[in-house]
Amino acid sequence: MGLLNAGWLALRAVRCCLSPFPTSRSWLSTRASLLGHKNLLLMGPPGAGKTTVGRIVAHRLGLPVIDIDDDVLEKTWKMPVAAKLAAVGGERFLEEEGDALCNFAASGCVVSLTGSNPLHTAAMQHVKDSGLVVYLDVGCEDIVQRLARMKVNRIVGQEAGLSMRDILGYRKQFYERWLDVRVLCGTGDTMEEVAEKVVKAVERYQNRDAETYVSTRTDQGSSNQKTYFSDVVIEGLATDGGLYVPKNGFPKLDAREWLRLADMSYPERALVLLEKCVHPLDVSPVDLRTMIFNAYVTSNFSSEAVAPVKHLTGNQYVQELFHGPTASFKDLALQLMPQLFAYCLPQMCNYLILVATSGDTGSAVLSGFSRLSGSDRHRTGVLVFFPEEGVSEIQKLQMTSYREGNARAVSVRSDFDFCQRSNKRMFGESGLSGHLAVEYGTVLSTANSINWARLLPQVVYHSSAYLDLCRDGVIKFGQPIDVCIPTGNFGNAMSAVYAKQMGIPIRKVICASNHNRIVTDFITTGECDLRGRPLMLSHSPAIDILKSSNLERFIHHVSDGDSRLVRELFARLDAQQHFQVPGPLVGRIQREVLAGWCSEDDCLAAIQSVRTQTGYVMDTHTAVAKVVADRLQDGSCPVVLCATAHYGKFAPAVFEALDIRNIPEDPVEQLKTLASAASGPETHRGMMRCLEESGRRGHTVCQAEYSVLVEEVENMIQDSFLKVM
Ligand SMILES: *Cc1c(COP(=O)(O)O)cnc(C)c1O
Ligand SMILES: *[C@@H]1O[C@H](CO)[C@@H](O)[C@H](O)[C@H]1NC(C)=O
Repeated sequence: MGLLNAGWLALRAVRCCLSPFPTSRSWLSTRASLLGHKNLLLMGPPGAGKTTVGRIVAHRLGLPVIDIDDDVLEKTWKMPVAAKLAAVGGERFLEEEGDALCNFAASGCVVSLTGSNPLHTAAMQHVKDSGLVVYLDVGCEDIVQRLARMKVNRIVGQEAGLSMRDILGYRKQFYERWLDVRVLCGTGDTMEEVAEKVVKAVERYQNRDAETYVSTRTDQGSSNQKTYFSDVVIEGLATDGGLYVPKNGFPKLDAREWLRLADMSYPERALVLLEKCVHPLDVSPVDLRTMIFNAYVTSNFSSEAVAPVKHLTGNQYVQELFHGPTASFKDLALQLMPQLFAYCLPQMCNYLILVATSGDTGSAVLSGFSRLSGSDRHRTGVLVFFPEEGVSEIQKLQMTSYREGNARAVSVRSDFDFCQRSNKRMFGESGLSGHLAVEYGTVLSTANSINWARLLPQVVYHSSAYLDLCRDGVIKFGQPIDVCIPTGNFGNAMSAVYAKQMGIPIRKVICASNHNRIVTDFITTGECDLRGRPLMLSHSPAIDILKSSNLERFIHHVSDGDSRLVRELFARLDAQQHFQVPGPLVGRIQREVLAGWCSEDDCLAAIQSVRTQTGYVMDTHTAVAKVVADRLQDGSCPVVLCATAHYGKFAPAVFEALDIRNIPEDPVEQLKTLASAASGPETHRGMMRCLEESGRRGHTVCQAEYSVLVEEVENMIQDSFLKVM
């Protein structure tokens, strides 16, 4: 443990000295000194308002303003910019414009760049070094209208046959390569409003300390220790046993900003929202963009929409969260989380993540980490232990398709508890962690569901579901919806509560349990009671859970951050296996969430009846949500059911539900049979490929001995990571 702690401390020190903009307090004292000698550089497409906004911002901050078009280019060329473009053509224009910018020097000014400056790499690098690049992100429709009004009919790079929309779309990637902060402009925002947003964005940039994190169990005032995003991602659990939450809650978007997002793709929505939630000095928007596009574009979700919403019946919609590589909603978080994790790690250590699983987490974690590349891949690995007899055939095949490199699964001839206990024991043994640190420079870590980097990406798809309904004309922005979620650890549900905090008009979060109904009982009574409640088998194993860890974040939320209460309740849960929250809080809980549970028979019956009515086949978890939504939702607004897994993942129960008798032996054939019984959704491409490839390979099976598992850990480290010299 000693070495581990030394690692954390070193990490904090490294983070501090790496911070590119030390946020010294004196910068914040007045607006005029907001930037010191730095420039504030406004960047964006033609018609974004850079010149006008630049003047207003400069006036407010009492700074000089420079317009590159008027003050630099026209003076250099001694002719209007449009005339120059007409005279020399686009390519030559960009070169000369870039050369002029390379010779430009100023400090402490507001600088309005030209729309095409960001296309010139050397010039842009030069100006970026002089200050903060603020991207005025204005919607394409607005730009097209403004340019028409300004009678601009040609911009740089516009060749015959290309529409203005095409060019603006193409340009966006350049703006997103250079920005330090984005200002999301809503349709109809005035120049004054945009200028105010610019000032706020700069203030935010310089006040990283306003976006720290606290443990649900720590009194806000009691600690001077600052915990940043990177600390939270690496540590997972707070040292006092609590869960991390943002100290100052979530940022809120207004209706005009949300409407901008309605026109965007899923990755674009994710980028804008996560930029708002993660401080740009913790993860720069440019790096965040790379990670998000890796997670949701390159990873090849089987739907390009990533998390599409489909109409089911009446006022019910399903959001399909199973198009990721391993076919459960966990991919939405776990395609991104490993990249954030690797990004936040200190450079001097290797990290091996240990996971014990009996379900969907295993394959999702393996897939996410196996997609790391370059040095991240050599420094960051994952080893999954699962019970040889304790997972479904398909889950096993999905996991064992990862057997080498930095992501591996091995099974154990024992149960889930043994795997879990062994992992915990490895973390607890200072001898082992010391040995691994000294011999291999490797630290053991976890990636469990309480990690902030797993919760945060989920806020995006709840927002996205609402935006899809707006885009498709089902609702107008502002009208409420309900969401219904099959709940285990309450992570998915908690992220819906957070989406609501950001301004998505979710009326009720409806939690659905199976017959292991701890969460439902808690929400309906305020009592959490684990006494004499053995876990019962079910058709929806991913929500078979007794201790629902994210409930702690929810109680913290509804009690307005009463950390003493949270501390007391969870100490009581540990000692006495139960707690009861105070009466008034129960009312507060029920204003936000409803809950119900579904029997095993009702679950299978729902799969059958939905298939009969609509042709659509749901997995067992989605069916649990369907049953509970039917019972609790009043029909006065749309309800979105979270479809958390593809039906193929839980094939045996779905065969039973659909009363299909001749079940093929081969898992690939099973999926084909199910697909032929469904009008939708289609077979899952990624799952199919994985089964086809892994079907006939063996995998490592360990004896149920602690020392054997430790040996696996060491083997993996030796094979994967560079030894410390
Ligand atoms: C993990 C999982 C759940 C439960 O999600 P929580 O965030 O723990 O509530 C539900 N359905 C499926 C298919 C899962 O894999
Ligand atoms: C992505 O999906 C397409 C279409 O199914 C497939 O041809 C391609 O090989 C996939 N790419 C990766 C990287 O898996």
